[in-house]
Amino acid sequence: MSTTWYEVRGNVALLQLDNPPVNGMSHAVRRALVDGLERALDDPAVAAIVITGTDRVFSGGADIREFNTPAMLAEPNLLQAIAAVESAPKPVIAAINGVCMGGGLELSLGCHYRIATPDATMGLPEVKIGLLPGAGGTQRLPRAVGVAKGLQMIASGDAIRAEDALASGLIERIVERTSFDGVMRFAQEVAARRPLPRLRDKPAALPAGIDAATLFAQARAQVAQQSRGLPAPGKCVDAVEGAVRLPFDDGMANERRLFIELIQSPESKALRHSLFAERAAGKVAGVPEGTAPRPLRAVAVLGFGTMGGGIAMSLANAGLPVTVFEKDQAALDRGMAACRANWEATARKGRLSAEQVQQRLALLKPTLDFNAVVEADLVIEAVYEDLAVKQDVFKRLDAVAKRGAILATNTSTLDVNRIADATTRPRDVIGLHFFSPANVMRLLEIVRADRTAPDVLATALALAKRIGKVGVVSGVCDGFIGNRMLEQYVRQSLFLVDEGASPAQIDAALTRFGMAMGPFAMYDLAGMDIGYAIRQRRYVDKPQVTYSKIADKVVELGRLGQKTGKGWYRYEPGNRSPLPDPEIDALIDAHRKAIGVAPRAIDDAEIVGRCIWALVNEGARILEEGIAQRASDIDLVYLHGYGFPPARGGPMFHAQHVRFDEVLAEMKRYAANPHGDPGFWTPAALLLEAANAGRWQR
Ligand code: NAI
Repeated sequence: MSTTWYEVRGNVALLQLDNPPVNGMSHAVRRALVDGLERALDDPAVAAIVITGTDRVFSGGADIREFNTPAMLAEPNLLQAIAAVESAPKPVIAAINGVCMGGGLELSLGCHYRIATPDATMGLPEVKIGLLPGAGGTQRLPRAVGVAKGLQMIASGDAIRAEDALASGLIERIVERTSFDGVMRFAQEVAARRPLPRLRDKPAALPAGIDAATLFAQARAQVAQQSRGLPAPGKCVDAVEGAVRLPFDDGMANERRLFIELIQSPESKALRHSLFAERAAGKVAGVPEGTAPRPLRAVAVLGFGTMGGGIAMSLANAGLPVTVFEKDQAALDRGMAACRANWEATARKGRLSAEQVQQRLALLKPTLDFNAVVEADLVIEAVYEDLAVKQDVFKRLDAVAKRGAILATNTSTLDVNRIADATTRPRDVIGLHFFSPANVMRLLEIVRADRTAPDVLATALALAKRIGKVGVVSGVCDGFIGNRMLEQYVRQSLFLVDEGASPAQIDAALTRFGMAMGPFAMYDLAGMDIGYAIRQRRYVDKPQVTYSKIADKVVELGRLGQKTGKGWYRYEPGNRSPLPDPEIDALIDAHRKAIGVAPRAIDDAEIVGRCIWALVNEGARILEEGIAQRASDIDLVYLHGYGFPPARGGPMFHAQHVRFDEVLAEMKRYAANPHGDPGFWTPAALLLEAANAGRWQR
C-alpha cells in the first residue's frame, strides 16, 4: 500500500501523505517523501513542491506503532527527511490541511513556506509524553514564531489554531479547504522567488525589552512550579535556549543530546506507559472490536447535587443536551446556580467566552417531571447513596425510559447488580462512576455488572472519549477498583499515626513522593463523615478487618474537615491551607496511650512504602479476581482519579520499575509489624507471579 501519493499538476509536484489513521511519519512515509522530493527536483517541469495530508490530517507526528522498533530509527530518519526538504533548491510548501502535530509540524518547519486551512491545529506535544521535539522543532519553531511563543508552545505541548499561527508568523496564509486553487495560487506566487526562506538561516527573536538571561530564568522558574517532578519541561527550556545562544547546527546537536537524555528517563517511560495504557483500556474482554456503540443524542441526569451538577457540566461541555431531574424546585435552582457560577469562573480566567457560557447553560434543561427522561438515550442517576432510593428510581426509570436507553448509576459503593435487578432490562444497566469534581476529574470508572450488554459497555467507552475522560472498566466489588484500593491506603495512613507519625509528616512524605495531595489533607477536603459511616458498617459486617480508631475520634469531636473549618488540620475562614492544630496533637497522644502504643520515629521511606505498596498488593488482588482486566488499567485509575504522580506511571508500573523483589522484601518487613495488619501483607499470588516474570502478566 502506498503511504504517499505523487502527482504533478502543471508545474507543481504534489506529495500527499496517506498513512492512516493519522499520517504517522513511519519509515515508509519518510522513504516515500524523500523519493518523491528527488523525483520532483529531477523533473525540469516542476517549479514548486507541495506537501500535504489526507482528509483532515496533515500528520499526527511519529508513527506510534513504530515505537521501540528498529523501523523508528531506520534511514531516512525524520531529521534526514527534513534536512532534504529544507535544502531543496526548489520551493517546498507545507499545505497544512488539519491536524499537524509533533514530527508533522517539524516537517512543515523544514519546508520553505507553510499555509493552512482555517480548522488546522498545530503543536509540539512531545512534552506530554516526557520528551521534547527531537527533529529540529525546538530550533526552528522559535525562529518561526519568536522565542517567547515557541517556548510556551514547546514547554506546554499545547496546540494553536490557524489564526493564532498566522498572527505569530508560523504560517504565511490561511487557505480555504473547499478547493485546491488557493494552494496552487500560492505555489505559483512563490515558484520563482529566491532566495528560499529557510528557518535555519533566521535568528530566533527575543521579545522586545527582555534579555535572554531574564527570559530563560523566568521560564525555568515557571516550569519548575508546574512540572510535578517531570524533567521534560525544563529540558524544553534548555533546548530552546540553544536556539538563541548557539549556531543552528550546534543547537540541533544540543536538542539531540537532551532528547536522548529524556527518552531514557524513567519519567518519560512512565508517561509513555500511560499513553499506551489509555489505548489498551479501550479493549475490553467480551466486547468484540467494532461493536457499534448505541447512538447518544440526549442524556438525562437524575439528581442535581454535587455529582449530578458536575456530570451535567461535563456532558454539556461536549455539546450534549442534558435534561436534569430533581425532586424539588429549590434543588433544581441550586444546581443551575452552581453550574452557572462554575462556568462563569472559567470565563473569568479567560478559558470560555460569555457566549460559550450561555450556550452551555442552554444545553441544560432542568425539570421536575420524571417523564421528561423518555427522550434520553442515556440516563445517569446521581441521587442519594441509598440502595432503596436508587432501586426505586430504577424501577421508575424502567417504566418510562425508551427502549434501548442506557440506565447508568453513579453509585460509589452500592452493588450495581442489585440496582439492575430493580429493572426488567438489566442488560441496559451499567455503573458510570465519576469522580468529584466531575467536570474536572478525568477518570470515569465504567462498572460492568453481570448482565451489562457489550454494546452498552462500548457506548460508555465512547462516551468517556467524547467528554474527554479516561474510561476504565471495573467489575462489581466493594469500592470498585479505585476506592477498594484506597481503603488499604487509608488504613495504613491511620496505622502510621497510631505508631508515631504525624498527619503532617505523612502528608509531606507522600507529596514529596509526588501525590497531588497528602492523605490527611485529602480527608479534610473530601469530608470525613462518609468514611466514618462506612467504617461503622464495616465494624459490624467485617469484624475481622482491623482499623485504627483515631479517625473516628477526630470525627466524634465534630471535626469533619474543611466544611466544618477543622479536621485533621484547622482552617482559617476563606482559606484552604491546612494549619497544624494542638487539639489534634493532644488527641493523638491520648489515643496512643489508650491503645498502649509507644510512638516511634518513622521515616519517609516506611510511610511511602506502606501506603503505596498497600495500593499495589490490593491492586494485584483486584487483578486476580478479574475486577480489573490489566495492571495498566489500575494505573490509569490512580493517575486520573487519585492524583498519583504522572512521573511514576501509576502504582503498578511504579512497583515494576522499583523492582518487585524490593517491593516484596519491604512487604515482608511490614508483615513483621504486629500493628499494621500483618495478614494484609501476604503477597497476592499475581504479585508473586509478576516478581518471577519481572513484569505484570496481565
Ligand atoms: P448530593 O447530596 O450532593 O446530591 C444528591 C442530589 O440528589 C440532591 O440534590 C437531592 O435533592 C437529589 N435527589 C435525592 N433523591 C432524589 C430522587 N429520588 N429524585 C431526584 N433527585 C433526588 O450527593 P452527591 O455527592 O452528588 O452524590 C450523588 C451520588 O454520587 C451518590 O450515589 C454518591 O455515592 C455518588 N458519588 C459521589 C461522589 C462524591 O465525591 N460526592 C463521588 C462519586 C460518586
